[in-house]
Amino acid sequence: MRTLVAAGILSSLLAAVVYAQQIRTANNGVYTDSQAARGRTLYREKCAACHGDALEGKVAPPLAGSAFLAGWGTQPLSELAAKIRNTMPADNPGKLKASEAADVVSYILQAGKFPSGRNELSADEGAQKSIILAAGTRQATAAPASQTPAFPAAGNLAQVMRGILFPSSNIIFNVQTNDPGAPAKPGPAGAATAAFSWTDWGAGIYSGWQIVDYAAVAVAESAPLMLTPGRRCENGKPVPVDRPDWIKFSLELAEAGRAAYRASQMRSQQAVSDASNQLADSCLHCHEVYRDKRGFRPGDPAAAAARCTP
Ligand code: HEC
Ligand code: HEC
Repeated sequence: MRTLVAAGILSSLLAAVVYAQQIRTANNGVYTDSQAARGRTLYREKCAACHGDALEGKVAPPLAGSAFLAGWGTQPLSELAAKIRNTMPADNPGKLKASEAADVVSYILQAGKFPSGRNELSADEGAQKSIILAAGTRQATAAPASQTPAFPAAGNLAQVMRGILFPSSNIIFNVQTNDPGAPAKPGPAGAATAAFSWTDWGAGIYSGWQIVDYAAVAVAESAPLMLTPGRRCENGKPVPVDRPDWIKFSLELAEAGRAAYRASQMRSQQAVSDASNQLADSCLHCHEVYRDKRGFRPGDPAAAAARCTP
């Protein structure tokens, strides 16, 4: 009996040891100082302009601190390395070698005060997969325990703007100069050989007016996304969802979307043109305060860094 219990304890101890070996965290010394030094050189050259000299965030989000850990703290290092390799530097992505991405990740760990160790962080994805950035930050990202499912943000605010509001409102703005009820014209001769158009694909499936309907619905329905808690802007600043003027601008957007839908349902080009002015105003009112920062030289990165603050 005794031996059985002892054997049981031993095997669960062994299991814990094996588990500890399989899943490590960045607190276990998973990179070397010299690797982080290489990463630092790369970072200064290719990343600091957007993410800041001290990884504090500038026109791009911070790569250290609680905001960074809230997003990445529970993820394996392979995800972080893949994000860097595939999409960074944002102005010239896809050029870093796997070993360079591992070096930059090491520097990010060092800057985040994770201890160095005796072995370099491997460039191998499988090896990186077994290392979680930091244990104990799960609380920050866990969904609240309630009956209603949580819908955490999947993208930053600029991505929501570019993915939903930009294409949808362009469809509505285009009604000013194009009649959605006009019969579709055949494409220009030789269109078959023209480059593939991502935006036109599938455009023939719904009628012109239906497309305007759906665009208006998309605008109205996406207005609450302006108020999703926890979303950040491209520069890493939190979307100011609690500010009264921000809430007012979001409501204005929703109302403009509904007005565009009512106008589209009237199948009146004039009514939609009028509604499109209301829509443009709703974009403008918020952008004036939170996006298009005045008093900066054109291209000054400080303007992008100031977005999403009043
Ligand atoms: C031209 C500006 C620019 C440069 C240069 C740049 N980035 Fe970024 N980076 C961004 C922007 C904008 C975002 C936010 C949008 C996104 O997640 O793609 C971002 C996001 C990130 C993220 C995700 C941060 C988060 O919290 O979600 C990481 C990690 C990152 N960059 C790493 C790097 C590294 C490492 C380099 C250098 C090799 C680099 N970036 C260079 C603009 C830049
Ligand atoms: C409640 C405020 C608000 C409203 C309403 C709003 N926007 Fe935005 N928009 C922003 C902010 C803030 C940014 C910058 C986001 C960032 O940097 O992450 C932005 C960015 C954008 C961008 C990206 C610009 C770039 O840098 O590439 C586009 C496109 C855009 N908005 C279109 C629209 C359109 C079209 C509408 C109206 C149909 C609209 N927005 C309504 C606040 C708003």
